[in-house]
Amino acid sequence: MYTEKVMDHFQNPRNVGEIENASGTGTVGNAKCGDIMRIYLDIDENQVIRDVKFKTFGCGAAVATSSMATEMVKGKTVQEAMEVTNKAVMEALDGLPPVKVHCSLLAEEAIHAALWDYAEKNGITIEGLEKPKSDISEHDEDEEY
Ligand code: FES
Repeated sequence: MYTEKVMDHFQNPRNVGEIENASGTGTVGNAKCGDIMRIYLDIDENQVIRDVKFKTFGCGAAVATSSMATEMVKGKTVQEAMEVTNKAVMEALDGLPPVKVHCSLLAEEAIHAALWDYAEKNGITIEGLEKPKSDISEHDEDEEY
């Protein structure tokens, strides 16, 4: 049912963890299953994503897609990161079973929410980025100002 790449990223997920004083964080929930994903971005002064980490209460497909998505945005500019769509991530994983496609949305949405957070904090606009609908982070939760 799962491709080798999905199994690999599920069993050895890359970039699990958190980043202290992240440039942007995004937390989103999946309305279908109630699973939660949080992404942390460390972005340098040239708007390049220096580091990225994720944490999730999600299923194996959510873990695998987030692992792949974080690998794909690392080293990219914030604008280039917009091209890492859930479709691109699924292709990089050689596909997901159709019932698991909604899981891959968590990664994209969480990255967008983290980019939005970064853009807001820095007063910049990222072309094509919309305010995340499903950002459920409480902004006083664990962020230091
Ligand atoms: Fe919830 Fe996959 S079943 S993210």
